[in-house]
Amino acid sequence: MKQFGLIVVAMSLGLMLIQCGGAKEEKPAAKAEVSAETAPVAEATAATGEMTYDLANGEAIYKKLCFACHDNGLAGAAKHTDQERWAESAAKGVPMLIKHVTEGYQGKYGMLPPKGTCMDCTDQDIIDAVHYQLKMGGSLNSSN
Ligand code: HEC
Repeated sequence: MKQFGLIVVAMSLGLMLIQCGGAKEEKPAAKAEVSAETAPVAEATAATGEMTYDLANGEAIYKKLCFACHDNGLAGAAKHTDQERWAESAAKGVPMLIKHVTEGYQGKYGMLPPKGTCMDCTDQDIIDAVHYQLKMGGSLNSSN
């Protein structure tokens, strides 16, 4: 009887090991699914150009983190009042700017870190902050 118990324990340990191994293998596949799902959403937003934004929230986000570089033009960042630089950025189109902020961007002036260092920002927060910056830089108009 004792031996039988040991065999059962050994078998269930074996099963657990097999299950753990299986779970580990599944992880990369699950990750791939997530990024495949989110990519078309971002593209759809960029394609339709239908974007709503909240400048008050954008200002709050800007004052929380973006100001660190953009208030004084630190590390190559466009100063928030530098109309020339913001016009140059605005010419790329808002969807491109949102992509650059979200993913991070190495341009000719410097390095914009992913999400502008606002790691807990939602996509909407980034959209709001970019529009606020365009407004400050005098480049927010009806087309964006
Ligand atoms: C660590 C410094 C730093 C912080 C913090 C930062 N930026 Fe920037 N940002 C930069 C630099 C440098 C550039 C210029 C990149 C270039 O064009 O060479 C830039 C450029 C940009 C551009 C223009 C991108 C383009 O393609 O022309 C936008 C829009 C922008 N930042 C938005 C933001 C927002 C929104 C935040 C806050 C959520 C933020 N940044 C925080 C450094 C920063």
